[in-house]
Amino acid sequence: MDKIIIQGGRTLKGEVRISGAKNAALPILVSSLLTDGWNTYSNVPDLKDIQSTKLLLSNLGARIETDGDIIRIDAGGVCNHEAPYDLVRKMRASILVLGPLVARLKKARISLPGGCAIGARPINLHLKGLERLGASIELKHGYVEASADCLKGNEIYLDIATVTGTENLMMAAVLAKGITVLRNAAREPEVIALADVLNKMGSKIEGAGTSVITIQGVSTLHPVSVSIIPDRIETGTFMISAALTRGDVTLLNCEPDHLKATIHKLRLSGARITIEGKQIRVLGGDEILSVDIKTLPYPGFPTDMQAQFMVLMSVANGFSIISETIFENRFIHISELRRIGADIKISGNTAMITGVPTLSGAQVMATDLRASASLILAGLVAEGTTEVNRIYHLDRGYETIEKKFARLGAAIKRVKV
Ligand code: EPZ
Repeated sequence: MDKIIIQGGRTLKGEVRISGAKNAALPILVSSLLTDGWNTYSNVPDLKDIQSTKLLLSNLGARIETDGDIIRIDAGGVCNHEAPYDLVRKMRASILVLGPLVARLKKARISLPGGCAIGARPINLHLKGLERLGASIELKHGYVEASADCLKGNEIYLDIATVTGTENLMMAAVLAKGITVLRNAAREPEVIALADVLNKMGSKIEGAGTSVITIQGVSTLHPVSVSIIPDRIETGTFMISAALTRGDVTLLNCEPDHLKATIHKLRLSGARITIEGKQIRVLGGDEILSVDIKTLPYPGFPTDMQAQFMVLMSVANGFSIISETIFENRFIHISELRRIGADIKISGNTAMITGVPTLSGAQVMATDLRASASLILAGLVAEGTTEVNRIYHLDRGYETIEKKFARLGAAIKRVKV
């Protein structure tokens, strides 16, 4: 159980390279299940969730080779259709193997992913969509048991634009007979990235990035060599660190087009942002202005940036309102931010933040991935020492974050407990 200790008050300056996107890498690595032969994936971030995905795929029978940020996967030998509880409980996104396994092996037995700190995280839409493609679904002893002799294309309307639901059903439909139309599909860049990889493998997917995705089923797919897109949430997190510390930080290897809502709101808060190709430079403003936020499905303001932006508003001039519309319990970080001196009131899914001149360092506890990032950000500006415990949450989604912040001048270190 490591912890991170930060001495607040440093101004961040310099360059930081953004890693590959966790939420693109997870479904793309899983898509290897849809074909035989060696797939090569580069720019894969070194994260706990990537380790979990490799363990899950090798448990199913895939062969995996890792060389730095390059991962090679051959699923030709996949014969086990079961994803056990002790693997799924570590990473909810394991449910992404459901669609590909039913498409490839005609059956799957996946432990039901439980909820997590931010919400119940049901998968009813994944299951309803698979049934629309002709799969039979049973829930037994905490497992989803799915089977289908032959998946058939169909119209699927998603009540909610679920990201992994869209990805799961896209991967099931690519080998189905006939045409599938996903309506109210998620539009996230990670969905587009997965569709691009599937098309490179020989699929016929149109409309990814819009709310209607059409998939023409094919009989076989072939292995590919692809690179993972940059992580837009890591990018946003570092942009906020520059604004918070009134620093001057240039982010390398990012995709500015994936962060339009975040950039817009950061500019309204007074940060000066210049974009040159794949680089974003953030100069902290003389003062931090209050800005209201409402999290929405892409291209709206991302829920995964809500906790981080709340830290910025905690030290802004004035009063701001943040509404969380995606998850029912994604304000857990507020109790910890209050211990660092933030003035935040909650009413339902709305947080009301009154900016304070300074935060004061304290011992705090991480509860989920993005909440732990917000506690690191708060520690960067809080007076004195902040100690963030349970940072295994952080390691799931940020690659050596303390080293990246230290290279920007932060007084931050990881301590083994
Ligand atoms: C993905 O989760 C991301 N994870 C999350 O990132 C992200 O916060 C979320 O999308 C929203 O953008 C990955 O891509 C691995 P959803 P996902 O299905 O797909 C409800 C992070 O920090 N819902 O789009 O699980 C659900 O409860 C993580 O990197 C149903 O009701 O999210 C939620 O309220 C956290 N039934 C809403 O939809 C379903 O069958 C959106 O969830 C599916 C979802």
